[in-house]
Amino acid sequence: MRKQRSQEISQEYKIMVVDDEEGIIDTVTALLTRSGYWCKGFTDPLEALEELESEHYDLLILDYFMQPIHGDEVVERIRKRDYELYILLLTGHKELAPPVSTLKSLAIQAYCEKSDRTDQLQLLVESGIKSIGQMRTIKQFQDGLNSILGAVPKIYQLQPIGNILEEILRQILPLVRGEDAFILVDELPELLDVTASMGVEPVERKSIFCGIGMYRGSVDSFTSMLDHGLMEAVGRARTDCKLTYAPEGVVLPLHDEKGQSLGVIYARNVSSEYGIKLLEIYAHQAASSISNAFLHSLVNIKNEELYETYAQLKQRYMDTVEVLRLAVDAKDEYTRGHSDRVVGLSLQIGRDYGLSEAELEELRVAGLFHDIGKIGTADDILLKAESLTDEEYEQIKRHPTKGAMILSAVSMFESIVPVIKHHHERWDGSGYPDGLSGLDIEFNARIIAVADAFDAMMSDRQYRSHLSFEDAIQQLRDGSGTQFDPDVVSRLLTLLERDPGILDTIRQ
Ligand SMILES: [Fe+2]
Repeated sequence: MRKQRSQEISQEYKIMVVDDEEGIIDTVTALLTRSGYWCKGFTDPLEALEELESEHYDLLILDYFMQPIHGDEVVERIRKRDYELYILLLTGHKELAPPVSTLKSLAIQAYCEKSDRTDQLQLLVESGIKSIGQMRTIKQFQDGLNSILGAVPKIYQLQPIGNILEEILRQILPLVRGEDAFILVDELPELLDVTASMGVEPVERKSIFCGIGMYRGSVDSFTSMLDHGLMEAVGRARTDCKLTYAPEGVVLPLHDEKGQSLGVIYARNVSSEYGIKLLEIYAHQAASSISNAFLHSLVNIKNEELYETYAQLKQRYMDTVEVLRLAVDAKDEYTRGHSDRVVGLSLQIGRDYGLSEAELEELRVAGLFHDIGKIGTADDILLKAESLTDEEYEQIKRHPTKGAMILSAVSMFESIVPVIKHHHERWDGSGYPDGLSGLDIEFNARIIAVADAFDAMMSDRQYRSHLSFEDAIQQLRDGSGTQFDPDVVSRLLTLLERDPGILDTIRQ
């Protein structure tokens, strides 16, 4: 084994020289070392093969005729595990050169005759190194692109903007082989419009900063990390909207599809052209993911805003309807508390049906407001102790439709409106206002109809005293299948039989 002769040379590319003649090794290594290449010589091809097992070389200059194995066999063994090694075959004489088919099948990139003239060998080595360099760049570029492809789904995942920025930076560093980078982005102006409209202060456009390596820190400490050269480069990159070289790195502008500036990425110590190219490709992806994240938060804010407005509106309307309901209750001392009791009974029945919490809430609101339409019925009719005339009765019969109208004003009561409208329909179709029958009547309306009638029977009226519990139960039985849904009646009866106490709880 022969040692390389000079250490004052670049080790970017490693060259191995294998020849069983020491003189040739001396000549070739002297030539290459003088040209600034790092090389190591071997007289024993088996020893060279062993070295290649553990060490990486970029270029192999190989003698063809050697002992104990020829160059073609050496190449054959190498190619079994390394197809990339650039091989330059040295032949003693033109006639002794291996056939082109052998050179091709073994992927030998070049061959050269041993001669006193070394310029030919030198040219071949230089061209080989150039080709290796290009292959290396292509490989690095491919790796970088693969890495970008791998990173893109991660940075597109919907997550807080700070996490996205950090992920973007984490993916950048291997591409540019740097350690220090930062991203500076501005919130979208639309976000400010929305937050301002919600009365959230302050309304100035906030900058979001994320740094790694020497730039790790908050946005407050960020300005102290910048020198004027870098600040100028950042400003220029944003203004010109193009890649800008800073004293120690590069600044890439980030902009959305419409060309609106989002901010910049700065990476320090990016030397290679391919690194910068990759950074440009990656910055484009990063800008899209940041833009997406902003739009998503915009949607969230708008949704929140809408939800809040909706909740306020709902609450205000509920309050209004509640006032109406209390007004209806207040009109008639005999019916006071009626709607609350209807709610209590209806919920008992609803629970027996196994309704969900949301369904029970719907039933509750419907029960609470079922007679809200009575607000439009004249007091002298509502409070009349004597029997009603046909005309008066017609007026009373309008309250389900009126109630439905009152609740139709806002969409939040959409599902309750038909229940209010149909709480006086009868199972046999002889009810009002639409004469619906059986299962055509809304489920909640069938429950409320039973609860409403039962509470009315159990309460005093201007024109009669309340019925006894037994009589009320009998009336329910009598009306089952004609006035009332028999299944609802049967469930209420079972509930009352099982625990008559529920009535006291409801009527408290
Ligand atoms: Fe009613």
